[in-house]
Parts: sequence; C-alpha cells; structure tokens
Amino acid sequence: MRIDIITVLPEMIEGFFNCSIMARAQKKGLAEFHLHNLRDYTLDKHRRVDDYPYGGCAGMVMQIEPIDRCISALKSERNYDEVIFTTPDGEQFDQKMANTLSLTENLIILCGHFKGIDYRIREHLITKEISIGDYVLTGGELAAAVMADAIVRIIPGVISDEQSALSDSFQDNLLAPPVYTRPAEYKGWRVPDVLLSGHERNIRDWELQQSIERTRLLRPDLLK
Ligand code: ADE
Repeated sequence: MRIDIITVLPEMIEGFFNCSIMARAQKKGLAEFHLHNLRDYTLDKHRRVDDYPYGGCAGMVMQIEPIDRCISALKSERNYDEVIFTTPDGEQFDQKMANTLSLTENLIILCGHFKGIDYRIREHLITKEISIGDYVLTGGELAAAVMADAIVRIIPGVISDEQSALSDSFQDNLLAPPVYTRPAEYKGWRVPDVLLSGHERNIRDWELQQSIERTRLLRPDLLK
C-alpha cells in the first residue's frame, strides 16, 4: 500500500516513518510513505500556503491552489482510494476504520494547519475527514502518523507474528488480556499460575475471561 502525506512540516514526521515497524514495512515492500512539502506546490516566491480569512475572523487559512496542485499531480500518477483530511471535526478514527483502510491500495492524507483550510477543498477534493480524538492539535501531522501506524501495522506480514496484531485490544471490541514475561516471580509478585501450566486450552480460556473482565471494568461502552 502507498500513503502520500501532504504537509507543511514534513520534517516533523519524517523520522517516524523511518523507524521500527514503519521502516520494516517499507523494507519488506509492504508499504510506501511519501511526504510532500506543500510549499513545493506554491507559485508564490515566498512559498506562502496560507492567507487571511474572508469575513475578518482571526487566524490564517490554508489556500486552495497549492493543495489542488499537489493532489492533482498525485492523482495524475495513480488512482487513490481516499483523499483524507485530518481535522478535529472529522469522523472519529478507530480500529474498525484502520482495518478498512488497511485493505486499500493508495491513500492521500492532507494534514490541516493554521485556523483551517479553505472549505472548498473539503467540499471538492476530500473524500474522508478524520479526527483522532476530541482534542485540538497544532497540526494534522501527528494525526497522520497515528493513522498510518494503525493502518500499516495490520497489513499481513508487517508484524512477524500476525496473531499478535489480531489479538490487539479493540479487535473483537475487547481489550487485550494482561501479558507477563520472565521471571515468574519478582519481589514476591507472581505470574498467574495458569500461564505457567502449559495447558493451552485453560490459558486461552483465562485470556478470554481477562479480556471480558477488563473491558467490562475499563471500557463497558465497547460491550454494548
Ligand atoms: N488536527 C488538529 N487536531 C486534530 C485531531 N484531533 N484529529 C485530527 N486532526 C487534527
């Protein structure tokens, strides 16, 4: 899968895509990330991408021309499944949306900045508006990184043990059970006996019980 990210701050997230699982996904040829500096698509000698809003309210607004130029250039090369805009008033991102988007081939993510973007971009160029939570970030770059991570890590083959992505919290609307590693006892704090028993069936039953119990306690809304 290929993800094109349009941003005024590529350096903010460049490192993220060259680390850990995202870097591995690229090395394995399972994902490609392309960061596009929106300022490269301005004709203005000051490389401005924003202007004052009509109506005189405070703040700056991202202009339509550089964004249209960048999206058009990308679309002339290939078809895109979605052109996503990161915005706090978008649809809430969740595991289900990550699962659906991980099945796509090509995505564009436009990172919002300043007071907002010229609304005509949202009306005519964007196909999906996504928020990563009910809080306001200074820009959409972190939201783009969060979404790309959640989407790419579940592509089969990206994580070596595929089972581990399937048993994540939120798959099946259940939180993950607790996990432990050696030593079996530390300062008198013991790993639950069942996990040391070697009895596969009892272990799976225990994990499911723990998942249900933790979800009931911590996120009862998921069980509805
Ligand atoms: N840009 C600013 N805040 C955001 C949020 N919560 N989600 C997505 N994009 C954003």
